[in-house]
Formats: sequence, C-alpha cells, structure tokens
Amino acid sequence: MAELSVNHLLGIRELTKNDIELIFETADYFKEVINRPIKKVPSLRDITIANVFFENSTRTRISFELAEKRLSADVVNFSSSASSVKKGETLLDTINNILAMKVDMIVMRHSSPGSPHFLAKHINANVINAGDGTHEHPTQALLDCYSIRERKGSFKNVKVAIIGDILHSRVALSNIFALKKLGVEIMVSGPNTLIPKYIHELGVLVELDLKKALRWCDVANVLRIQLERQQVKYFPSLREYALYFGINKKLLDEIGKPIIIMHPGPINRGVELNSDVADSEASIILDQVENGVAVRMAVLYLLASKKNPGTSK
Ligand code: CP
Repeated sequence: MAELSVNHLLGIRELTKNDIELIFETADYFKEVINRPIKKVPSLRDITIANVFFENSTRTRISFELAEKRLSADVVNFSSSASSVKKGETLLDTINNILAMKVDMIVMRHSSPGSPHFLAKHINANVINAGDGTHEHPTQALLDCYSIRERKGSFKNVKVAIIGDILHSRVALSNIFALKKLGVEIMVSGPNTLIPKYIHELGVLVELDLKKALRWCDVANVLRIQLERQQVKYFPSLREYALYFGINKKLLDEIGKPIIIMHPGPINRGVELNSDVADSEASIILDQVENGVAVRMAVLYLLASKKNPGTSK
C-alpha cells in the first residue's frame, strides 16, 4: 500500500507532491463514503484521537471530529478555556497527560507558530497541525487545492490569486506551498502593508491592483482580514479596505469572465467579500467545507497506518 513520507502532518512544507496526490486519491474514496446513506467506515475502530484546540475554531474542529467519527475512531475534545492550562500547566504536560489515557493521535490548533513541530519532537504519537498561529494550516490548503482540482479537473494551466491579508495568514502560506508543489501559477494581491517582504522568495507574483489580479486569475482565494493578529493599523479603516480590496458582484461583472471564488471562512461579509458574491454561483465556499471532511479523513487514515511514529527528536 502507498504511504505518506511523513509520520505527522506539521505543514505542507514537509510534504512531497506524491504525498499530496496520495491524500487527494484517498479523499476521492472518502468523499464517496460521506455521500452514502450510511456515512461511516470501520477504518480507525482501534484508534483514539484528541482534538486539542488552544484557539477558537468552528470549521476545522467540527470537520476533524466528523472525519474521525466517520472513520469510527474514538474522539475526545479539549478546549483550553475550560482546562487546567488556565492553572499554569505547560503544553507538554497537558499533552502527556492526555496521551497517558491511551490516546494515539493529537490534532492541535495553537496560537504559537511551530508548536506542533515542538510536540512531534517530544511525544510518541502522530501530530496533525490544525493551524499554528500565522505559520501553517495544512489541512485547509489540502482541502482548498482538492476543491480546485474537483472544479477544474486538474491543475494544468490554472492560475490562482490569493487576495487579502497575506501577512498574517497561515492559509496563504500553506496554499502557496501546496500550489507550488502542484505546479500552479500563483499571484498574491492586497494592500502593500499586508504583503510580506519575503514573498518573492516563495516564487509568487505580486499585484497590488485588485482588478488586474482578478483579470489574471481563474480562481480567487479571498482571505479574511485577521484583525485579532494585527497589533498596528495596516490600513486606515475597514470601509477603505472594502473599497479597494473588497470583492462584490459589480466588480466581477466589470471583469466579465468566470472566476471561481473561494474563502477559508469565517467571512467578514461586506469587508473582503460581499454576500452577492459569497452566496453566488461563482462561490465554492461550502464545497470547500464539504471537501474538508473527506480530506481530513484521508489524512487521519494515512497517518494512522504509521502508528507509534516515535519522537522526531
Ligand atoms: N478555515 C478555518 O480554519 O476556520 P475555523 O477557524 O472556523 O476552523
């Protein structure tokens, strides 16, 4: 059986193109499973998974839990706000206590970039990064690319524009790594202050004029303005941001060509995306959410075959 080159899913950076294609082929099977009347298979019947979330989440947490349950895994959910972390317990102590209860796999979201990498070095269980600060969100990028592949048939000649708050976005970085590995042309667009200085080193095009970026692309992945990560003001006001970088139907009509609209959620409606686009035929936002379950089932299934991964110290 084909297997992943990694024992953990820490980021897209660590995956090969073959790993990504294997995840997509496995997700194709699980997408068929979750559309059956009985949406469940016994694949992970002997596995226990802890979803450990130190940051808020709607989509990723529920999607992982559903993926785990549809694979028949036992699932425990941990939320830091209701835990002994509040009493000063360290990350490693918290996770080691969870593992002592015979948990096999950790899915973790944490505000500190690199925290899943730290964990993988110190524990003997598979670690899946569900978003580490402004660093990576690998399953989001996998489900985004899977959704593009589903809609376009392949990645051949596909041009993707990633639009908005590139600087603070783990979704942007993971998408750039994934799309580059798949041979896709990438452009980033947004206010100059929200485009990182190192971006050219990642081999992407930069276009500060939103209209030019939209004219160039086949797919626009529109990102949320992450106000919670912005310590200083990067643009004068949300009104001004919406005026220059918000996408609405009038603007798309003016561009006059079909563009697939994506967004990882949650959407700031009326800021980066208007409802007349988010809820339109052009939008595949809810397809992304559906595909997230199949893609996460694939990741969990493929990593579970690598039980007892050992520490990566
Ligand atoms: N896309 C995403 O990560 O959404 P949540 O923060 O709701 O999980």
